[in-house]
Amino acid sequence: MNSASSIATQPEDADIVIFGASGDLTNRKLLPALAHMYRWNLIAPGSRIIGVLREKHEVRGWNEQVHASLLKYAPDIVNNNTLWNGFSRMLHPIQGDLEDESFYQRLSDVVEDSNTAMNVLFYFAIPPAYYHVTSRNLHAVRLTDEEKGWRRLVIEKPFGMDLDSARHLNRCLLSYFDEAQIYRIDHYLGKESVQNLLAFRFANAVFEPLWNRNYIDHVQITVAESIGIEYRGGYYEKSGALRDMVQNHLLQLLALVAMEPPAEISATGVRNEKIQVLQSIHRMTPEEVKTHAVRAQYGAGMLDDEPVKGYRWEKDVARDSNTETFVALKMYIDNWRWQGVPFFLRTGKRLPSRVSEIAIRFRQAPLNMFKHTASTIEPNELVFRLQPNEGMSLSLNAKQPGLTMHLHPLQLDAPYAEDSSNMPEAYETLLYDVLLGDATLFNRGDEVEEAWKVVTPIMEAWQENHKVTLYPAATWDIPGMDELIAGHEGGWRQL
Ligand code: BG6
Repeated sequence: MNSASSIATQPEDADIVIFGASGDLTNRKLLPALAHMYRWNLIAPGSRIIGVLREKHEVRGWNEQVHASLLKYAPDIVNNNTLWNGFSRMLHPIQGDLEDESFYQRLSDVVEDSNTAMNVLFYFAIPPAYYHVTSRNLHAVRLTDEEKGWRRLVIEKPFGMDLDSARHLNRCLLSYFDEAQIYRIDHYLGKESVQNLLAFRFANAVFEPLWNRNYIDHVQITVAESIGIEYRGGYYEKSGALRDMVQNHLLQLLALVAMEPPAEISATGVRNEKIQVLQSIHRMTPEEVKTHAVRAQYGAGMLDDEPVKGYRWEKDVARDSNTETFVALKMYIDNWRWQGVPFFLRTGKRLPSRVSEIAIRFRQAPLNMFKHTASTIEPNELVFRLQPNEGMSLSLNAKQPGLTMHLHPLQLDAPYAEDSSNMPEAYETLLYDVLLGDATLFNRGDEVEEAWKVVTPIMEAWQENHKVTLYPAATWDIPGMDELIAGHEGGWRQL
């Protein structure tokens, strides 16, 4: 989040060391983001992208591999010779086995070889099992030392698989890096429409007086995907939707909606307030889990007229798996602002479409003054569309044009950007922020642990009772979902 101005500042020169340089994340997200940053002068010209590859032949073929990935995910770069030539000059592959101590000495020599400032960004695009050994070895050769330039570490989720493993991971990272050097990515925070929540809430005075239990009936946060688990069965079997999406992305969205105005828009200001929200979320009792939490798994179905298989038939998934691919929760925040206001969260795979949004449903008007015209009054609703079609809308009741006093719903709709194709991708924003040393959109260690505390009672209750119900792929026919919201104005939004 470049706070200074809309004219972006160029960060200092840095070496960007990607561990896992041939992996899927690197190809799909990191390289395209870096290439676009290069295009917009958001990487200083003396910077290098040092790709750590396991095999020698990968080192030899890295340029071609990067070219092929960009052709798929950032064709605008490779289709322009000047851009591609400039960007490819930044690429420096290096062969390295993460468990081999001597590799880190070679890496250190490469960094020392730099003609420019010795700032280094380490990006762990590697399985979590390697986080420890890699950090330890970086530390052993003093690559974590900030004497000659800054040293920053970016790590991806999952940050542990439960509270204990998250604490363990934090402790381990903190024995080699300072908290201020660690950037824990939640890519949802890098999305333009998510950052806009901060702007909307803290740059407009009109909504703040309404932003509480006196005017808001409930909040709905939905992150629906139409894709299945694709090739990630091995990971997903151990994770499920609660760990994969709720513990991080959905709780972050909830925190941004519910937080108090921070002392300042800065890493400390924003993260201090988000953690207060997470701490105030009511921890469900085992009894409450039965009525406030729904889980389900997709069965077979038809998506866009094509048959799709059920979760249990996906690759690397057990035929009797009880892993949830859908979760819906009713959560409460025990503080003065939100007491008694339910936050309904739902997320799942193989739903009818990809749509993410946050809806604030206000309370019903105290009295229908237009009953005599048989008009109904709908509660007002403010919706943030996060993806696709990023934007905001506010639904109101208005007079229908004509001689009688009939009402009809009126929608005020604003797209987030006139041309959303030019919006930076989440990874561009986040990598740029790391280069600038701005951690506002990253999670602090204590925040991650707090989020695990919120989901732990649900995980535990579900462990006791394994049984998950099924829903037909590409439908919202999820057993128990409607009961969760019963009695609340309007029910779930139809998406
Ligand atoms: C990831 C999850 O964090 O977010 C995936 O691991 C999920 O399972 C993805 O598909 C969704 O991200 P986006 O940006 O496509 O909404």
